[in-house]
Amino acid sequence: MSYLLRIDSSASGEASYSRQVADTFAKDWGGEVITRDLARNPLSHLDSVSITARTTPADQQTPEQRAAAELEDDLIEEFLGASAYLFAVPMYNYSMPSVFKAWLDHIMIPGKTFGMGDADPASGRPAVLVSARGGGYGPGSPQHGKDFLVPALEIILGDALGLDVRTITPELTYAPIMDPLKHLLPLHETSLAEAHDLARRNAADLNRVLTCSVRTEN
Ligand SMILES: Cc1cc2nc3c(=O)[nH]c(=O)nc-3n(C[C@H](O)[C@H](O)[C@H](O)COP(=O)(O)O)c2cc1C
Repeated sequence: MSYLLRIDSSASGEASYSRQVADTFAKDWGGEVITRDLARNPLSHLDSVSITARTTPADQQTPEQRAAAELEDDLIEEFLGASAYLFAVPMYNYSMPSVFKAWLDHIMIPGKTFGMGDADPASGRPAVLVSARGGGYGPGSPQHGKDFLVPALEIILGDALGLDVRTITPELTYAPIMDPLKHLLPLHETSLAEAHDLARRNAADLNRVLTCSVRTEN
């Protein structure tokens, strides 16, 4: 079994609910964890140097293109070297933090990480997505249908990269700090407790699944 690649993207440090639930998963995870914290160490946005480097033969690249190509090669090697993934991606403006989007833009390269059908290299690997949000987006809530993060990531991580994505969404994290949401505090507390519980259960389940697949390969 290789490592779990954990990607953090909340700008709230230790106070982040996504990080705390991801910590619960990682604590029960049986193997090695490699962490990339995109909030503490953000990547540059994708630019013309990176894009042109992808189609310029190595011996014709400028020094800037070579550096850009090396960065993407390193990120992709780190991504493809993992046997499982833990993504902590809070909701920012109904979508994902820009630092996480920048990481995706660097690793989503057709022919390298996806777009090869049955030969997609990460296809079938398990992934846990933890996404805290200030409001509530469940059926019946006023915000229902306005979550543009989880559906987008389930398409990118699930449909495109082929990962087997399990999603955990601690909701209403604004309830403890915003007066108009105070009456929703019990719902927030229940959602958070369920998120930690789901993280523990997913860790136990994936430890079992991956241990079985290592035994089968041997
Ligand atoms: C820049 C920014 C934008 C946000 N946008 C939304 C939003 O669109 N919808 C929402 O429900 N909460 C929003 N929030 C609240 C966060 O989703 C909430 O604080 C969540 O707990 C953040 O995850 P974290 O605790 O893992 O950092 C936003 C917070 C920030 C900092």
